[in-house]
Amino acid sequence: MSSLSDTLLEWYALHGRDLPWRRTRDPYRIWLSEVILQQTRVAQGTDYYLRFTERFPDVASLAAASEEEVLRLWQGLGYYTRARNLHAAARRIVREFGGRFPATFEEVRSLPGVGDYTAAAICSAACDLPCAAVDGNVYRVLSRLYDLDTPTDTSAGRRAFAELARAELDERHPGLCNQAIMDFGALQCTPAAPGCATCPLSDRCLALAAGTVAERPVKRPRNTPRERWFNYLHITSGELTVLCRRGAGDIWQGLYEFPLLETSGASDFLPLTRDPRFGEWLGDAAWRLLESTALPRHQLSHQTLHAVVHRIETPRLTAAAAAAAVPTETLGEHAVPRLLERYLISIQR
Ligand code: ADE
Repeated sequence: MSSLSDTLLEWYALHGRDLPWRRTRDPYRIWLSEVILQQTRVAQGTDYYLRFTERFPDVASLAAASEEEVLRLWQGLGYYTRARNLHAAARRIVREFGGRFPATFEEVRSLPGVGDYTAAAICSAACDLPCAAVDGNVYRVLSRLYDLDTPTDTSAGRRAFAELARAELDERHPGLCNQAIMDFGALQCTPAAPGCATCPLSDRCLALAAGTVAERPVKRPRNTPRERWFNYLHITSGELTVLCRRGAGDIWQGLYEFPLLETSGASDFLPLTRDPRFGEWLGDAAWRLLESTALPRHQLSHQTLHAVVHRIETPRLTAAAAAAAVPTETLGEHAVPRLLERYLISIQR
């Protein structure tokens, strides 16, 4: 019987996807693609990859950009910590590695935002280092092939799967092998409705024999996400809109949003007007509530957000509001969370 990696490489030669980051050995570009693909699927990720590499063709240009510009280009992908890490890593590469992308696993792994998976993906694809890149696809393929019920999201599980992936890796073609198993997971051994009938590994797939394909991989039971209720005050006065920048210590650090009154449950508008923070933003001017819009529920990895935007026009800004106001026409230049981006698009229609 041919080895697992031989079968996967044969399959990959026939069915693998032709993707722009697979046509380069430039570790900078491969790194960019991996960071983007942690956040989105290949179709959308390709657009972002092309935009990023056009605007920032090398690590020096990314390092020289402002964080705000990087966040703006990232807008729409969510989880902005990744974009901030990307930028911080580029600056570190310029500062500490003289602008040359590091070429050892340890150095690449030490960059902000780069974990074991990303470091392995970069080092194998760009430098042919024998590192197995273990992502969700690899967990799925290996847990099915060997019918493993070890939860993949525990440290013991991660260790066991990393060892297995490393043992299966063909050291002559580590980069290709990693791309092959990734595509095999994405296209053939899919989460739902995998193509077992046409699978070149079906004769040795233990989960197929045991009837457990749909139950692999196993994850540990999840905690229920925290629920939060955001009441935004979309305050306009003439040509100005009040916009605040989020501080550290919570989601969306550094992004812009409307003044926010967070409540412990769903709130109507009237109780908000009795909140002292409401007074700070609107004072006793003759403001008018124009519209209240409940946004679709927004799911982050550990939080469920319920947001309502109250659109308010006021003839006069308070000192706090005036200090935060920006010309309404410049709203599009500010990086905002995805949920507000969608809201802003919806009110332009
Ligand atoms: N997802 C994460 N990395 C990927 C890659 N290199 N190719 C396709 N999908 C991916």
